[in-house]
Amino acid sequence: MSSVAVQHQRILSGMRPTGKLHLGHYHGVLKNWIKLQHEYECFFCAVDWHALTTHYDDPSLIENHVWDMVIDWLAAGVNPGSATIFIQSKVPEHAELHLLLSMITPVGWLERQPTYKEQQDKLREKDLSTYGFLGYPLLQAADILIYKSGLVPVGSDQVPHIELARDIAGRFNHIYGREPGFEEKAEAAIKKLGKKNAKLYNSLRKKFQEEGVEEALETARALVEGHASMSLGDKERLYGYLEGGGKVILPEPLAMLTEVPKMPGLDGQKMSKSYNNTIALRDEPESVEKKIRTMPTDPARVRLTDAGDPDKCPVWEFHEIYSNEEVKTWVQEGCRSASIGCIECKQPVIDCVLKEQQSFLDNAREYEENPELVKNIVNEGCERARDIARETMDDVRHAMGLSYR
Ligand code: TRP
Ligand code: SF4
Repeated sequence: MSSVAVQHQRILSGMRPTGKLHLGHYHGVLKNWIKLQHEYECFFCAVDWHALTTHYDDPSLIENHVWDMVIDWLAAGVNPGSATIFIQSKVPEHAELHLLLSMITPVGWLERQPTYKEQQDKLREKDLSTYGFLGYPLLQAADILIYKSGLVPVGSDQVPHIELARDIAGRFNHIYGREPGFEEKAEAAIKKLGKKNAKLYNSLRKKFQEEGVEEALETARALVEGHASMSLGDKERLYGYLEGGGKVILPEPLAMLTEVPKMPGLDGQKMSKSYNNTIALRDEPESVEKKIRTMPTDPARVRLTDAGDPDKCPVWEFHEIYSNEEVKTWVQEGCRSASIGCIECKQPVIDCVLKEQQSFLDNAREYEENPELVKNIVNEGCERARDIARETMDDVRHAMGLSYR
């Protein structure tokens, strides 16, 4: 059951600051962010605390990594006029929510996260048997829930983390959303909708609760949402009452899976810094050209006269991302009939990557030359994020009985 209220079409996503970004980040994540920023209210967060969960032994890197990453976001086209760009550790409310949520988070839920064991195995040289690392997905849940974000654009590996955030939100609402006299208050709020809308609300609620009609739920939410003069508390009661529970304090987010072409690395494996097979967004043109020229091709094509198979060649995967149909046909036919050479085949890819990168380099220059500009953008973003985070924390503290003074 989804409790993503219509008003919560806010998007939050985060990226760990690991330094300069590469084309895998661009095609896999940033292009999508850039599209979403025009369609939703977007918050993009540099999650420096998450970076510390695995890199706690080398704090000297974090700061530069944050600025390099933010410059890459800006160079790629994340627009601070449309989206809010901010740094996790500058909104300490995330930590407070993380702590408060930890009170109701069963340890088993965290231990069962697939990433927990996977990352420990993968990063064997590090001691990740820490409290902070176990809490990684809970911190992520706090990042999301503190903005009451309805949708979280992520890759498939992150889906279990979003499900955890949903479960935690559900548990939180279940435990703390029950206020004394909830039903009476909800019934009183229904009356405030006006006679006609109250009737409609009741019939939609019945339709959803008795027949499970999801559209009825959506329509009823829109009805409440459209009631501009109603207080936030009453709205939350009405959202919660629709589904039978208490108040919805922390709406349950949904993962928004990004359908992306897999960006191969120079060697055909996934592009990743740890495989040393990347092209950075701001690599020098000469180095890009050299990297692509020396890329391995179909190993069966030893001589120019040997026919090749694009399906066995990482260069072909680049064509899939960068080339139009005409070029792709030229590659397919030319490779299989040995009528084009590999260097020849790589040239259109080189041209496209260089062209794409030129705009990154041009956009980045302004920020590289003027770090204050970047800091101002981020400071403003942190302020905006903090305003919302503070509001949520007021609700959360109140619900948990901590708003006394
Ligand atoms: N765990 C995410 C990743 O590794 C990063 C992240 C942290 C995140 N907080 C988030 C992603 C909130 C989405 C929403 O990619
Ligand atoms: Fe790969 Fe192109 Fe060479 Fe075929 S011609 S093996 S697709 S680089």
